[in-house]
Amino acid sequence: MLFQEEFREIARRCGRFRLVNVLSDDELEGCEKGFISAELIRKHAPVDGDYSVFVCGPQAMNDFVDAEIAELGLRPKFVRHELLGEYRNPGRNADYPEGARGRRFKLDVSVCGASYSIDCYADETLLRAMERNGIAAPSECRSGECGWCHSRLVSGTVYVPEAVDGRRQADLQFGYVHPCCSFPTSDLAIDVPPCRN
Ligand code: FES
Repeated sequence: MLFQEEFREIARRCGRFRLVNVLSDDELEGCEKGFISAELIRKHAPVDGDYSVFVCGPQAMNDFVDAEIAELGLRPKFVRHELLGEYRNPGRNADYPEGARGRRFKLDVSVCGASYSIDCYADETLLRAMERNGIAAPSECRSGECGWCHSRLVSGTVYVPEAVDGRRQADLQFGYVHPCCSFPTSDLAIDVPPCRN
């Protein structure tokens, strides 16, 4: 358990901060045992109305917690994720488009006045494909949260796992995607902003 002393000190000083340690395996007095479930969240944060949940951890934990959070009925904008690493293996999701599985697509990239035509595999993100081909594309969080990689999808289609789909209504309306968590499902073309990293 990281930063125990620091967290306890914050809890001592701030009445609005409560520390609840949830241990998946070990039994320890004062700690919850198991996974972070909707029931556990309700138990420790019995809040009416809107509130936010911030999730940070490996993808397997995100997948479990997301299913639990769905039971809380929060709108998507109140659930924020920080993944420890990029989203991988999208094909294991139930809503993954079967027709794309195992395929390789053509990705046309327009960035800083230059154009490139590269391959992008169905199980790699557009960002990963660009980097593999030496194209400097902007990125920060690499998990659909910060919007730094925000690019226009000129043509084609992508699959975006729900857990990392940070697109807003306007993005959907005007065809913007986050290459860091978008997987190709057809040949496609994107317009990428200049690299600001
Ligand atoms: S790098 Fe943050 S949303 Fe893509």
